[in-house]
Amino acid sequence: MTKVLVTGGCGYIGSHTIVDLIENGYEVISIDDQSRSTPYPLTGIQLITGKRIKNYKVDLKNFDETLAVFQENPDISAVIHFAAYKAVGESVEQPLSYYENNMGSLVSILKCVKEFNIQHVVFSSSCTVYGNPDRFPVTEATALQPAVSPYGATKQMGEQILRDFSLASNTRVILLRYFNPVGAHPSCLIGELPLGKPQNLFPVITQTAIGKLPKMMVYGSDYKTRDGSCIRDYIHVSDIAHAHTLAVDYLRADKMQNKCEVFNLGTGNGITVLEAIHMFEKVSGLQLNYEIGPRRSGDIEAIYANNEKAIQQLGWTIRYDLEQMMQTAWAWEQKIKKEEDSISKN
Ligand code: WQD
Repeated sequence: MTKVLVTGGCGYIGSHTIVDLIENGYEVISIDDQSRSTPYPLTGIQLITGKRIKNYKVDLKNFDETLAVFQENPDISAVIHFAAYKAVGESVEQPLSYYENNMGSLVSILKCVKEFNIQHVVFSSSCTVYGNPDRFPVTEATALQPAVSPYGATKQMGEQILRDFSLASNTRVILLRYFNPVGAHPSCLIGELPLGKPQNLFPVITQTAIGKLPKMMVYGSDYKTRDGSCIRDYIHVSDIAHAHTLAVDYLRADKMQNKCEVFNLGTGNGITVLEAIHMFEKVSGLQLNYEIGPRRSGDIEAIYANNEKAIQQLGWTIRYDLEQMMQTAWAWEQKIKKEEDSISKN
């Protein structure tokens, strides 16, 4: 079996990608220092796939410890690099920790890739690299604007580092630009586990509905959109996950026209905040306690993807619609609450 190293394998997108890789015949190991995650997803992965995933609890910024993982696994054929800090607001408050962590870990893992002459790397990038686009849908050729946060800057720099590395090595690279990943695996055994108070819309909606948050704020209703609230391209995490498996397949099949290729991962549909809330109310049958408030600084008005390149070249398909995204997000929130309640009872 072909072995893939996933960094950040205990995280939200990393854990869903491990499930998809295993279901498509890959052997997987993970490096995750669990500074922003827990071992919990590894149990879910094992329940879904029947496979126990070995996770190395290593700080990727520690080159020697990271290299030791490669020495123990000389048969690694591809690396998928997720591990990074990703809270936009936190990055504004703590830029140095973001640059140190996100860039330091990337350089360290690429030095190992070079040392072991690994030919295939897939990188977790983000639509945030586009900044605040003025034409839609955005394609991979849409000009990047200056990042609107240090988090976004680390994704832009990460792409540049990987582009330069691919030209100076035998390694071919695929950059996957996620739009807004949401939802949970249909088994309800893995999902998003925000640490502390969530910032992203879907977990804020479901935590408000389950009673963990008293109410939620819609950040602005005076944008130039069909209902005044911001537009985003929400995409199910399992669809994002499968795109990573297809990217590894594509690299291994040697189909790359260039040393480094970029793919947008979005549905191509722009959804407003209020439409997402109304979809939740439809799916759950509940009335959500929300208020319209002022805009959140750093928010862009609208963004959604042109995803034709990933569909045509990777053979990617979108399997989950907005209703299923919300259904799985809500089912996961209820499952977590049930587990927390039973723990607090014992
Ligand atoms: C979506 C919309 C908010 C919370 C960020 C990163 C991006 C990616 C996903 C990592 C916005 C509105 C939200 C709330 C609200 N992260 N909202 N009330 O900011 O588009 O993207 O997370 O890869 O890189 O930039 O996602 O879910 O935070 O916000 O009204 O309580 O929901 O204003 O319009 P965002 P989000």
